[in-house]
Amino acid sequence: MENAVSVTVNGRVHDKTIPIRMLLVDFLRDELGLTGTHVGCTYEGRCGACTVVVDGRATKSCMMLAVQANGCRVVTVEGLENFGGSPGALHPIQQGFWERHGLQCGYCTPGMMMTIFDILATNVREGAPELTAEAIRQSLVGNICRCTGYSHIVEAVQSAAAQLRAMVPEERAAWFDTARLGEVRA
Ligand code: FES
Ligand code: FES
Repeated sequence: MENAVSVTVNGRVHDKTIPIRMLLVDFLRDELGLTGTHVGCTYEGRCGACTVVVDGRATKSCMMLAVQANGCRVVTVEGLENFGGSPGALHPIQQGFWERHGLQCGYCTPGMMMTIFDILATNVREGAPELTAEAIRQSLVGNICRCTGYSHIVEAVQSAAAQLRAMVPEERAAWFDTARLGEVRA
């Protein structure tokens, strides 16, 4: 059975007819060619490599049908660079990973970054307490990394949070405003 869906991914509106049982991760990878979103377990929700942001919340895309994303605004790792307003402008999360060597093989990294997007969007608001290393580890409990031992990932998150806290509120908010990516029909 097939269903028509319209999903906005990284600012591009995709109108597709897809099998009703297609998972969001397969829609992103196979229908749209956005292979930055990975599959690290057997579609069981265990590894977090498939994490994307759906309507502002980090979501394991192997745990969601693509038809459930109909009308939603999805951001994948490929979309992070589009928040800066100029080509190649790294998102503070990417900058943090780059500066603190937050990856080795990189397989878990896209999912990590999209979980962190959700964490920081909430945490860097005015008046929110600074994230401790322990709180960051707790927040990443659903994302498995086989390489880094997590220390560099935690430091990368702290670095990104520090960059964001140094900004004026409007500038900081812009890095999480998914409406800035636009709505261009693909
Ligand atoms: S592929 Fe492992 S949690 Fe989705
Ligand atoms: S960097 Fe290799 S799995 Fe995380």
